[in-house]
Amino acid sequence: MILPIYLYGQPVLRKQAANVEMGKEELKQLVSDMFETMYNANGVGLAGPQVGKSLRIFVIDSAPFKESYPNEEIRKLAFINPVITKRFGEEQPFNEGCLSLPDIHEDVYRPTSIEITYLTEDLEEKTETISGCVARIIQHEYDHIEGQVFTDHLSSLKKMILKRKLTDIAGGKVRPNYKTARK
Ligand code: NI
Repeated sequence: MILPIYLYGQPVLRKQAANVEMGKEELKQLVSDMFETMYNANGVGLAGPQVGKSLRIFVIDSAPFKESYPNEEIRKLAFINPVITKRFGEEQPFNEGCLSLPDIHEDVYRPTSIEITYLTEDLEEKTETISGCVARIIQHEYDHIEGQVFTDHLSSLKKMILKRKLTDIAGGKVRPNYKTARK
């Protein structure tokens, strides 16, 4: 089932999300719905708050980066109750976008590598060290469950330039071609 995506300005995107505590069946359904919602909107990642659920969960699929990053492994994963335990490597820029901030794309600096502990959708605990574009997507999605969005990382000058666009999104003036939650 495709879920409506919550856009910038909606309070759920600013809340620190709570740990996922639900039955396996319910969790499988949520993960499946989140993947379907992400693919429908051509995203590479989607976090719980973006579908109105203030829960520590996100899904990613780095397949669209296959051509630009041919040497990197493609990962399709669901992260339940993840904790980034380390961030390391040089901070590098990457042009980020977000399904909750349609039509905004800006370079964001983040470390190249992370160590993350999480539960899979089968509730199996894993710890992995991840680099490259997958680490990039994970850090972006992790921000969402902490109540942050990628524009929070920009300089105050950049934020000022984007203010009008953000106000337009918050005011419902930007209509992406996927289902969104209306206020
Ligand atoms: Ni996002």
